[in-house]
Amino acid sequence: MPNGVRIAASLLAADFARLGEEVAAVESAGADYIHFDIMDGHFVPNLTIGPAVVEALRVHCDLPFDVHLMISPVDAYIPTFSSAGADIITFHAEAGPHLHRTVQLVRSHDVRVGVSINPGTPAEVLKPILGEIDLVLVMTVNPGFGGQRFIDSQLDKVRQIRSWIDAGDRNIELEVDGGITLETAPRAIESGANVLVAGTATFAGGSDHYARNITGLRG
Ligand code: DX5
Ligand code: ZN
Repeated sequence: MPNGVRIAASLLAADFARLGEEVAAVESAGADYIHFDIMDGHFVPNLTIGPAVVEALRVHCDLPFDVHLMISPVDAYIPTFSSAGADIITFHAEAGPHLHRTVQLVRSHDVRVGVSINPGTPAEVLKPILGEIDLVLVMTVNPGFGGQRFIDSQLDKVRQIRSWIDAGDRNIELEVDGGITLETAPRAIESGANVLVAGTATFAGGSDHYARNITGLRG
């Protein structure tokens, strides 16, 4: 992590028939986190994997598991993903009416707490809970699918949140997710992101390319 930028490899772009090998390969290639995209077919128009897959992969890799829950309502699943081996649980501010309650619920399971906001959600929703969370995830695409195009307007939001984090005394990670490429990664970093979720850009070209892909994104 030479410049302090972390790469969270999103398994959505991995070979689902060989996930155990894929998490081990991106760990050896220098990824910092394994990013799980958990989709419920309701909050987002796609279905992916559940806690059994997270648990099964835990023995294949020592990296922190960064679990992004695109689930609504989400509270009932927090204990399950915590037991499955999540190190960070990120849920969406849009997932329900009780953002602060869900922050407390995640915290009570002794995992790091992340809150994500969709492209159409203003950064201001985070302000009342910024003193109680460990990670902010700014969606730079509308959640639901990998391989989408980066939404440039989200960079202003990243800058705004970076200024709030720097003005406070908590060590909060600022993560961006969606459309990260060699072209968009430097702009996200320059705007203040320190964790880049990358699916397509990590797994492109097969395992011989993972190390070069990850190093390139870090800048
Ligand atoms: C989208 C997911 C992302 C996605 C990123 O809903 O949250 O993590 O997998 O994929 P790429 O890097 O392909 O844009
Ligand atoms: Zn994600």
